[in-house]
Amino acid sequence: MLEKDIQEVLITKEEILAKSAELGKQLTEDYAGKNPLVIGILKGAVPFMADIVREIDTYLEMDFMDVSSYGNATISSGEVKILKDLDTNVKGRDILIVEDIIDSGRTLSYLVDLFKYRQANSVKIVTLLDKPEGRVVEIEADYVAFNVPNEFVVGYGLDYAEAYRNLPYVGVLKPEVYQSN
Ligand code: PRP
Ligand code: MN
Ligand code: MG
Repeated sequence: MLEKDIQEVLITKEEILAKSAELGKQLTEDYAGKNPLVIGILKGAVPFMADIVREIDTYLEMDFMDVSSYGNATISSGEVKILKDLDTNVKGRDILIVEDIIDSGRTLSYLVDLFKYRQANSVKIVTLLDKPEGRVVEIEADYVAFNVPNEFVVGYGLDYAEAYRNLPYVGVLKPEVYQSN
């Protein structure tokens, strides 16, 4: 039913699962013995978070944070509001942030600074998607599953007006869907 709103499938579930397994192997090596705190950024990161942690074969802890960008395009430093903070003290911890997409970079730039300010031992990023053309703030993920072009992508956690997060693939939304609103 949702498929009628999708112009093109960019990344299938099979491709995402295969890439998650590959990244998971690398993360297992990189975080062995470190008991990392894996932080999913609500809500977009939820499906990818579930995939990636199941591919990491070492002790780890999970936590979640919800932030919202003020959406002020003139603020390039990443002005972000905390809607739900962590339950965990990050001081001295090795942090792995899990995101669905890096676009402008504002969300992650803010979070990396915040966790460093809170004296995390290390802060790294794993993201399902990277949209380099959207970047306003300079930031790079340490682990990227896929690059996407500068188009309106939804699915696998990514929403348009809160819909489409449950699509089991990443696709491009038909322009008429967002133009009719
Ligand atoms: C989206 C996405 C990333 C962020 C990326 O989240 O899930 O977290 O925006 O954009 P940026 O690089 O320009 O900051 P959003 O704030 O829409 O919340 P959501 O995850 O609940 O959809
Ligand atoms: Mn998000
Ligand atoms: Mg969103």
